[in-house]
Amino acid sequence: MRLDRLLGNLPHGNRRDARLALAAGRVRVDGLAVRDGRLEVREFNRVELDEQVLQAGKPARYFMLHKPAGVVSATEHPEHRTVLDLLDEPDKHELHLAGRLDLNTTGLLLLTNDGHWSRRLTLPQSKRPKVYYVETEQPIGSEYVETFARGLYFAYEDLTTLPAELEILASHSARLTLFEGRYHQVKRMFGHFHNKVLRLHRERIGTLQLDPELAEGQYRALTPDEVAAL
Ligand code: URA
Repeated sequence: MRLDRLLGNLPHGNRRDARLALAAGRVRVDGLAVRDGRLEVREFNRVELDEQVLQAGKPARYFMLHKPAGVVSATEHPEHRTVLDLLDEPDKHELHLAGRLDLNTTGLLLLTNDGHWSRRLTLPQSKRPKVYYVETEQPIGSEYVETFARGLYFAYEDLTTLPAELEILASHSARLTLFEGRYHQVKRMFGHFHNKVLRLHRERIGTLQLDPELAEGQYRALTPDEVAAL
């Protein structure tokens, strides 16, 4: 919310006092005096008026997890273990997922308590590459490359997928780079050729590679540089 509104909403606050306090440089956000009440303040910012702490500011948290198969990309589920069950963190129910993977897909999954960050990350317009390693039941033909690069029509959504890059690694394996995230997209793309995906693993989102040190089920906090880069 805007800083002037936060100040105006205080039990003994009013808009005029808020304006005066701002003009006098008595309001600090994360330790710096702020005079512009239009500043957007988030739950992660510390806000002080003179010596009084108006909002302590909680830490923003960001994690990468190596999702195993058989664990559902949700924070709650009636039957399956969820990715949240794999985290040993205080207040982990404040975390949410920045994107999902199917039940049997493995690989890079991001969790955070920062809704702005995850929204930006998952916006279809962002066109951030997502890289998947794929193994299939049938051999992968060279014609797939051209078809995926042209885009496939998905009748259910009435859209054509964005050009995707396919690198064939061996007869039954490939690396696929998508620039969007449609429902079951990889499986549906290979499904176009009646080729079933047997193994699907997300290796990378944007510049962020799944840490090779993380075994399935393990996780770690993102570094500030990784958070900023995404
Ligand atoms: N595409 C799929 O089909 N499944 C996933 O889990 C991710 C992308």
